[in-house]
Amino acid sequence: MCGIIGIVGDKPVSDRLVEGLRRLEYRGYDSAGIATATPAITRRRAEGKLDNLVSVLADRPLTGIIGIGHTRWATHGAPTESNAHPHATEQVAVVHNGIIENFRELREELAAKGHQFESETDSEVIAHLVTAGMAEGLSPQQAASAAIGQLHGAFALGILFAGQDNLLIGARRGSPLVVGYGDGEMYLSSDAMAVGPLSNRICYLAEGDWVELTRDSAIIHDETGAVVEREIRSSTVAAESIDKGNFPHFMLKEIYEQPTVIGDTLNTYFNALSGGAFMPEMPFDMAQVPKVTIVACGTAAYAGFVAKYWFEQIARLGVETDIASEFRYREAAMPDGGVAIFISQSGETADTLAALRYAKSQGQYIVSIVNVPESSIARESDVVLPTHAGPEIGVASTKAFTCQLTVLACLVLTFARARGAIDDATVDRLCSSLAHVPELSRDVLQHDDRILSIAKDMTEARDVLYLGRGSLFPLAMEGALKLKEISYIHAEGYAAGEMKHGPIALVDDGVPIIVLAPSGRLFEKTVSNMHEVIARKGQVFLMSDEQGLKDAGPVPHSIALPAVDDFIAPILYAVPVQLLAYHLSVLKGTDIDQPRNLAKSVTVE
Ligand code: M6R
Repeated sequence: MCGIIGIVGDKPVSDRLVEGLRRLEYRGYDSAGIATATPAITRRRAEGKLDNLVSVLADRPLTGIIGIGHTRWATHGAPTESNAHPHATEQVAVVHNGIIENFRELREELAAKGHQFESETDSEVIAHLVTAGMAEGLSPQQAASAAIGQLHGAFALGILFAGQDNLLIGARRGSPLVVGYGDGEMYLSSDAMAVGPLSNRICYLAEGDWVELTRDSAIIHDETGAVVEREIRSSTVAAESIDKGNFPHFMLKEIYEQPTVIGDTLNTYFNALSGGAFMPEMPFDMAQVPKVTIVACGTAAYAGFVAKYWFEQIARLGVETDIASEFRYREAAMPDGGVAIFISQSGETADTLAALRYAKSQGQYIVSIVNVPESSIARESDVVLPTHAGPEIGVASTKAFTCQLTVLACLVLTFARARGAIDDATVDRLCSSLAHVPELSRDVLQHDDRILSIAKDMTEARDVLYLGRGSLFPLAMEGALKLKEISYIHAEGYAAGEMKHGPIALVDDGVPIIVLAPSGRLFEKTVSNMHEVIARKGQVFLMSDEQGLKDAGPVPHSIALPAVDDFIAPILYAVPVQLLAYHLSVLKGTDIDQPRNLAKSVTVE
C-alpha cells in the first residue's frame, strides 16, 4: 500500500507531485505529503484525503524543482499529520511503501546516538539511517546504499537530499517501483499510471535494485551494488483518463461499464463464429493437468471460488481454492505439473504475489488473471490472461470481478474441450449463453430503480445475510463483502443449505436476507431454505427470474431478473448485488469510492 512519486526536473514540481498522488490515491488515503529540496528540505503534509493536502498547499505553496510525494495507508502509527510521509531530518527526506520489520532495533540504536524521532512510523528510521551515514562522511549514494542494506522487510523508497537539486534515490525490495524517463526530467513512482501523464517510457526496477536519478540519467544498481541495465519499455497505461464522467461515483460508473468491458474481455477469449472459447498457447497440455489451484484475495478470491464449480462440473477437473493470506503459509502439497491460477485486479496484492512464488517453488505452471498487464503478478507468471476492465478506481471491485469471471468461464470451456469433458451440444449451449452475457448484463442494469427501492427498505438494517447455492454461494459472499466494505453494515454470505446448521439463529424480522436463486438446477433446494427463513419472520428479498418468482410462492420482496443459464448466472447476479450495496451506501451517506480504512491495492501482508 502507499503510493510514491518523485520528480527530478528543471521546473516546479509541486503541482505535478500532487497530480501524481491523485493517480496513486487508490493505494491509500490516510494522509498525504510532499517534500522538495529548495535547497533546504521543505515539507507539506496533511491528515486524510489528498484534498486536505491541496488546501494546505493553497495556503502555503511549496517551491522546488525536485521533490517526492506520498499517499499513505497506515501500518505503523495512526493516520495523523505527524505520521504522514515524507519523513525527514534536516539533511534527508524519505517516502516509503512497505514495512520495515527491524525498525525498533534500528530506532533504538539511532536514538542512543542522539537521533530524535517525531513519528510513530517504521519509515522515519530510514531518513535517520541515511543521515547517520552522511554524518560519518559517506556520500548521499553511499549512505543510502548502506542504509538500504540494514533494512529488513519490504519496501519501495524515494530519498531526497538537502542542497541537492539533481539527485533522487529510489530503491525497491518486495514493493514495486517504476522509473519514468522524461525530456530533461526523471520520475519515480509506485506504478506506471502515476507517471503516465509525464512519460510513457518506463523501467520496472528489479527486486533489490536501487537507482540514482538525475535530470538526465538513471544509474541502476542491483542488490550487490553493481551497475546494471534494465529494459526501458513503452507504457500502455500512459494517458488513460480517470474521471467519473457524468456519474456521481466511480463505483457506479464502473458498474455501468460492465456490458462494454465484459464484451471487450469476451472478444479476447471467445469467438462464436470459430468454435467459441480459446486461449493463448499454454506451456502445458490441458488434457494432462492433474490439478488446478486457484488463489486470490477478497473479491478476486470469490471469482476463483465460482470457477471451482465451473472447473469441476464442466471440465471435470479437481480444483483447490484458497485465499492467498492462508494459502501462502499452509505449505500446500501440489502435484508436479499442476496449474496454479492467481487472480488480481491490481496484480500487486502482496499475499497473492507471495502465494504465486510459493506455487512456482512447487513446480506449478503459473497462470495469472490480472487487470494490469504490467503488474508484478503478471510479470512473474508463465501465462497472463488480462481482463479488459480498464482502470478500476472505486475501492469496491465491480467490473474487474465480472471480467475475471468472463476470463475464467472461457478458460474452463477451453479446458473442458481439451479434456473431452463435454459433448458438442453442451459446448454449444454454454458458448451461446456466454456470448449473451454483455447484452444480458445491460438488461440487468435496467432494474436499477427496483434495486434502489429495495435498498430504501433496508436502510435500518444492522445485519444482512446473503444466501446462495452452488456457484451462487460465492456470489452471496461477494454480495456481503460489497455491502460491508462500502456501507459499513455487517453482512455475511452463506450457502443456503448451511443456514440450519447455525446461522438461522440470527434470523428475525430485523435482518434482511438476500436470496440469490435463479431458476435452474438448485432452485428448489434454495427456495426450501428460503421458506425456512420466511417461516421465522425473516425479511427475504428474492433475486430470481420471472419463472423463479412464480415457482417460489409468496415472498415478502422480490426482483425479477432476466432468465439465464446456470453457467452464466454468477456473472449476471453480480450486477444487482453491486447495485444494492451501492444504493444502500448512498442512502447511508458513506464514502463510496474511498471507504474508511481501506485501499484499492493491498501491497502489505
Ligand atoms: O487487486 P486485487 O484484485 O488482488 O485485490 C484483492 C482484494 O483486495 C479486493 O478484491 C478487495 O477485496 C476489494 N476491495 C473488494 O471489493
